Amino acid sequence: MIETGQGAGSAPGRLAADAAEQAARRRTFAVISHPDAGKSTLTEALALHARVIQEAGAIHGKAGRKSTVSDWMEMEKARGISISSAALQFAYDDAVVNLVDTPGHADFSEDTYRVLSAVDSAVMLVDAAKGMEPQTLKLFEVCRHRGIPVITVINKWDRPGLEALQLMDEVRDRTGLEPTPLTWPVGIAGDFKGVLDRRTGGFVRFTRTAGGATVAPETFLTAEEALEQEGEDWVRAVEESELLEAMGQVHDQERFLAHETTPVLFGSAVLNFGVRQLLDVLLELAPPAGPREDADGVARKVDAPFSAFVFKVQAGMDSNHRDRLAYMRVCSGVFERGSVVTHAATGKPFATKYAQQVFGRDRETVDVAYPGDVVGLVNANALRVGDSLYVEQRVVFPPIPSFAPEHFAVCRAKDSSKYKQFRRGIEQLEQEGVVQVLRSDLRGDQAPVLAAVGPMQFEVAEARMAGEFSAPVTLDRLPYQLARRTTREWVAQLDPQSGVECLLRGDGAWLALFADPWRLTRVQRDLPDAVLEPLVAAADSPH
Ligand code: G4P
Repeated sequence: MIETGQGAGSAPGRLAADAAEQAARRRTFAVISHPDAGKSTLTEALALHARVIQEAGAIHGKAGRKSTVSDWMEMEKARGISISSAALQFAYDDAVVNLVDTPGHADFSEDTYRVLSAVDSAVMLVDAAKGMEPQTLKLFEVCRHRGIPVITVINKWDRPGLEALQLMDEVRDRTGLEPTPLTWPVGIAGDFKGVLDRRTGGFVRFTRTAGGATVAPETFLTAEEALEQEGEDWVRAVEESELLEAMGQVHDQERFLAHETTPVLFGSAVLNFGVRQLLDVLLELAPPAGPREDADGVARKVDAPFSAFVFKVQAGMDSNHRDRLAYMRVCSGVFERGSVVTHAATGKPFATKYAQQVFGRDRETVDVAYPGDVVGLVNANALRVGDSLYVEQRVVFPPIPSFAPEHFAVCRAKDSSKYKQFRRGIEQLEQEGVVQVLRSDLRGDQAPVLAAVGPMQFEVAEARMAGEFSAPVTLDRLPYQLARRTTREWVAQLDPQSGVECLLRGDGAWLALFADPWRLTRVQRDLPDAVLEPLVAAADSPH
């Protein structure tokens, strides 16, 4: 699946043309969903359709399945989850699809948000029985803020669930987007016969295969044939579809790209129903890799010289290698392995000798990559999350913000003689963005406060401090629930308040931590002029 062959030294004119042409073929997206909605199952089903894998179960990392996504941490194995995120690339028709994986665990982490800075569209996967769930909504907020078009997939239609029309109301009420179904289910949830293709008026009938292990056969029938075969179920689907039409719930490409509407598909990832429709819709409607704004708001065109930004750094994926991978999203030009690019943060050259595509355990060398592609740079010790890389024309992309932490813990070395290792480890985790690190004179350098969006980040930090830096730590949770950004001037007045503590974050921001929202309200009342800005929550992400 890797594009190879162009080699270093191609003429610049040709490279620009290549970049534009290849960017137009790229569809780079992520699946956003609440745990258990079926993201891993859908990923497999998509790969199966694209014939990346021969059988469902080859990618999924859950315990008991055929193989695991990553075994970079014992913790992952024990829980049967995948923390590492990467991109799966596959060809479909004439397009190249990049599915950027969001970490699938129940706890939220900053990585989950960061991944969304690397995609051009998102698939919002909704469990038909559960409707819109909290994590889906949080991730949706990031998409909304970034203006990423969202395609909605109602999954698990093979199981009893809510009514289709009710689900549409929920999508509209919770996201503010007008749902514009492209397909409509024939048969209620739990009795899935197929879908009415609202654009052709025809019926796509699905046939079960054993456990959904292979691509489900589809039969295309006309409306008359569907009526004959499905009777009541077909009539109901047509009536509901007409109702939607009367309410104006019809796809409009401009409104979709403007983030006003969301096309909706119905499916069952586990049975491989509706998966081809999703791929087709991605190709047809989702935006290709396009120009990207830099920190000054100037758009970098896809055919400009090579540029990329790092959206994720991960170390310790493979205990045998102790490697460190920086994932970059190519924004413009052609990336050629072995070329020397400039690291915008330092102005220094960066040699890209080792470039890989990573998905799960599989790693393949990437020789050439184009706008929209995700490339893992191996042993990229100099690179940090948010860093820009370029050739010829300098560019700095907007930073990926730190998100508002909601969990806090004091971190101490178990063995004080390991202080050096402790400090190095903490610094490293901070740079990678595994956790945010907060410090104060009062607590001292030996007891920094780790702050996280999701508590899983603490477990990762703890495991890596012990395993990688030989500095086992204790983490004592602090009773704070929320943080606000303040300024140095206000620290002296805020710090003495009960249930409040001010600390300095690694990026130079002063954070005031509050035990609960009530205390924040009280402080705001007592000190009405105090600077207490909401932190960059997911919804405020400028990236
Ligand atoms: P996640 O990555 O979003 O967390 O979800 P995952 O794909 O792991 O799916 C969660 C559970 O939902 C799995 O069941 C999976 O088989 C099931 N599932 C996914 N899509 C569908 C669907 O379309 N229909 C039905 N009926 N089930 C679906 P599990 O019991 O937790 O795991 P397993 O024993 O099936 O592996």
